[in-house]
Amino acid sequence: MRAPLPMSVQIKSAEDIAAMRVAGRLASELLDYLEPHLQPGITTAEVDTLAHDYMIDVQKTVPATLNYAPPGHTPYPASLCTSVNHVVCHGIPGDRKLKSGDIVNVDVTVIRDGYHGDTSRMFFVGAPSIQAKRLCEVTYEAMWKGIRAVRPGAHLGDVGSVIQKHAESHGYSIVREFCGHGIGRNFHEEPQVLHYGRAGAGLKLLPGMIFTIEPMVNAGRPGIRCLADGWTIVTADHSLSAQWEHTVLVTDGGYEILTQSAGTPAPPPA
Ligand code: MF3
Ligand code: CO
Ligand code: CO
Repeated sequence: MRAPLPMSVQIKSAEDIAAMRVAGRLASELLDYLEPHLQPGITTAEVDTLAHDYMIDVQKTVPATLNYAPPGHTPYPASLCTSVNHVVCHGIPGDRKLKSGDIVNVDVTVIRDGYHGDTSRMFFVGAPSIQAKRLCEVTYEAMWKGIRAVRPGAHLGDVGSVIQKHAESHGYSIVREFCGHGIGRNFHEEPQVLHYGRAGAGLKLLPGMIFTIEPMVNAGRPGIRCLADGWTIVTADHSLSAQWEHTVLVTDGGYEILTQSAGTPAPPPA
């Protein structure tokens, strides 16, 4: 998604950053909570209910996606996004039962004390195919290459270009229509964080900026289509698609990932 209205790129205060660490950790802990439930036979609507109740009753967070209505969209009807197999993003939970061999992106955004934490992971339901597993791994590596390019003085084009190079070197393609985004008191702020581009181009990073990196990588062609529900994005060629997302702070020395918890998967080798 992108910022609904033009605004400038904010430098967060120490208070903002402290609150964003809390929101980010809570978002990641929500994924930790959901992970053991992502088994064959559960419906994505059941996963949504589990997430909604955990946010409201246990975390005392607010599901940012519920009734979220950026310009040109109907209100999003659920507390998370579940994007299965060829669904690229914004999959609306429903009656569909997860089955062994599915890959599913679960994307959660929680609000705590007015601040947003936004993260997603890929999960395997039962055992994945070799191709699906590879796509998820390469997408994870691509996100991490982008994160490792974050430091003061680097440009957003440096982030996009390493992500794009990694995905394309494996014969995969980057979805162009969606990008990472600044985040804070708003769900989607400037800057737009493209997952493709040219080194040295784009916004120069400064300490205190906070944004997501959330590449969507298709096994086949980059083209997408939106379903009649107005939200669910699928690959035009029905190829598999994967995505990972972290919320990242630019620090004096590089980066700090805000969306971490006990269940965060280990970083890939640098
Ligand atoms: N969490 C998504 C993102 O990473 C946005 C989902 S908006 C929704 O930006 F309305 F589709 F839920
Ligand atoms: Co996001
Ligand atoms: Co997200």
